[in-house]
Amino acid sequence: MNENKAKIEISKLIKLINYHNKIYYEGKPEITDYQFDQLLKRLIKLENQFPDLIQKNSPTQNVGETSTKNFDTVKHLYPMLSLSNSYSKEEVTKYIERINKLLPEEKISFFCELKFDGSAISIIYENNKLNRVITRGDGTQGDNITENAKTIKNLPHEINTLYNEKTIEVRAEAFMSKKVFDKLNKERKILGEKLFANPRNVTAGTLKLLDKKEVSKRSLDYYSYTLTIDDSNIKTHEEGIKQLEKWGLNISKTYKKCDNLEDIFKYIDHWEPLRQTLPVEIDGIVIKVNNLNQQKRLGSRSKSPRWAIAFKYKPENLSTLLESVTFQVGRIGTITPVANLKPVLISGTIVKRASLHNPNEIKRLDVREGDTVFVEKGGEIIPKITSVDLGKRNSKCKPIKYPEYCPDCKTKLISSEDQANIYCPNSKKCPTQIKESIFHFASRNAMDIRELGPQTIERLYDQRLIKNVADLYDLKFSDIYKLEGFKEQSTRNLLDGIETSKNISFKKVLFALGLRHIGVSLSEKLALHYKNIDNLSSADFEELISIHEVGERVAQSILDYFEDSDNKILIKRLKHKNINFELKEDEIPKSNILEEKIFVISGVFNNFTREEMKSLIKNNGGKIVTSVSKNTDYLIIGNNPGPQKLDKADKLDIRTINEDDIQELIKK
Ligand code: IVH
Repeated sequence: MNENKAKIEISKLIKLINYHNKIYYEGKPEITDYQFDQLLKRLIKLENQFPDLIQKNSPTQNVGETSTKNFDTVKHLYPMLSLSNSYSKEEVTKYIERINKLLPEEKISFFCELKFDGSAISIIYENNKLNRVITRGDGTQGDNITENAKTIKNLPHEINTLYNEKTIEVRAEAFMSKKVFDKLNKERKILGEKLFANPRNVTAGTLKLLDKKEVSKRSLDYYSYTLTIDDSNIKTHEEGIKQLEKWGLNISKTYKKCDNLEDIFKYIDHWEPLRQTLPVEIDGIVIKVNNLNQQKRLGSRSKSPRWAIAFKYKPENLSTLLESVTFQVGRIGTITPVANLKPVLISGTIVKRASLHNPNEIKRLDVREGDTVFVEKGGEIIPKITSVDLGKRNSKCKPIKYPEYCPDCKTKLISSEDQANIYCPNSKKCPTQIKESIFHFASRNAMDIRELGPQTIERLYDQRLIKNVADLYDLKFSDIYKLEGFKEQSTRNLLDGIETSKNISFKKVLFALGLRHIGVSLSEKLALHYKNIDNLSSADFEELISIHEVGERVAQSILDYFEDSDNKILIKRLKHKNINFELKEDEIPKSNILEEKIFVISGVFNNFTREEMKSLIKNNGGKIVTSVSKNTDYLIIGNNPGPQKLDKADKLDIRTINEDDIQELIKK
């Protein structure tokens, strides 16, 4: 992609993402979180490739919500930070140890609170009168939503304090109670309106509605969790909370002062089972250093304070009815049973489906249609059925029967060699398998033709315009233009996307071909080892298994693929269309000095573009990943590195180096 094209695409993406961001916060999302992430990822990719084209209004330059034009933007008195998270008692122990090390020989008490799942607000009182309420925004400035916040009952418009001339800031979590959320969704269902996904989103959206009456109807609530006032008499966080309580601000009575780790663990264990019974969703607890002077001395990192940490509970496990099971055909013919569930709200999202994976999983769970099952959902992971509530099983529950024939092409299904899966052997003709393999070919880690979504593939296939991936490169303007949903520009975009895919590296082309058992990293390994497809296709079994990471199953899959006459024709056609079946000179590693080393890069470099830096590392055998983890060896930073990456590297003790250091390392 050249710079001009990138510029146009970046502008389009910014506009689109900002639009979806805005309507998301208004509680009216039009696309799924996944689709949103895809847009954002594409933008990040382009911005990484062309850092000079990063625009100020890019969503990548803002944290969290973007400010909307409908409200005045107001700067926060001090930044609204977020909390770093921990997920286990070991992590909490380590955190407390760190704090003890930072404040040696001091007695440190903690204050534990629940972590309410809503939207952060800053409430400002001047001369004891409610002056303004601001959303978190980008952490530095947010939207003035005072009028909407005034609809929150129990939010005092005036407080009776001794601080007549002072500014008092209260930080709080605005939220919608579970009860109000359920009622709201019930009403929407009756009206045939789209249901809200979770109380957190609706809260953020409601705070930014333009119609105050509508906000009022939504009965938002809040809990205050921080008082900031310039008064040396208030020495602890606890005293601040008690003060807020006295002034009549809402405080959840669930807090507890904890003097040691044991008390903190007790608090964690106490609330885990009880959280279902709370009127508001929580996703964990917050552990805060109680003494304000100690808080001050501990200070903050760029995004989060050192004096507090969140402990996140494991995802909620709820029970629901398994109404039916349907069977889906995958790209390589595997039949996957999918449980259709009675919709249930788990960890803030409505879950309707869960994968049952394979026959062994069904056996292991001993699950039947009509059973009441326990479902767990965590982060982005696909919801999982963890067990069956056997106490609720009745005579109507039916054992799950795998179909004998493919639900799509009706071919007789067979078991895989290891009996772990059932699959449709009709790989050449089964329409679902063909469409899925084209979708895989076009996917982000493969040929990255993002204009080619499942719906377009479906239409092209139905119109008999494509039956395999090589046909994509024969498509003409008139073929696409006549499809439903295509106009002149979208047709051009798709054709451009297909054309641009000819630049994709052989490493990804190999992955795109979709050989069984060969994922992204193995494709890359094989491409680097064999350099081109002819070397790979002529390798024999012995040679293949001599490569580290290639086992017998993978070797056999490679041999099978290249023996197949249809595949031979396909590759010939793709070669003819100038798809890369060979590594370019600059993709071939020059040395192995960085072998096994994992790098993350951040910021803009003086002597290298980002792509050049990546090539430098790869050409010397190093590996690049996008986020810092405990496996990272080095974080290479340029100008304006991402603060999150820096923080994480700092926390995990990862070496941070600059562009000179990396050149030094390679010279060695
Ligand atoms: S204290 C420096 N206490 O969690 C941040 N935050 O990731 C100090 N939250 O957006 C925040 N309950 O809105 C604190 N009891 C609580 C909280 C809480 C919920 C939210 C807060 C913030 C996010 C932090």
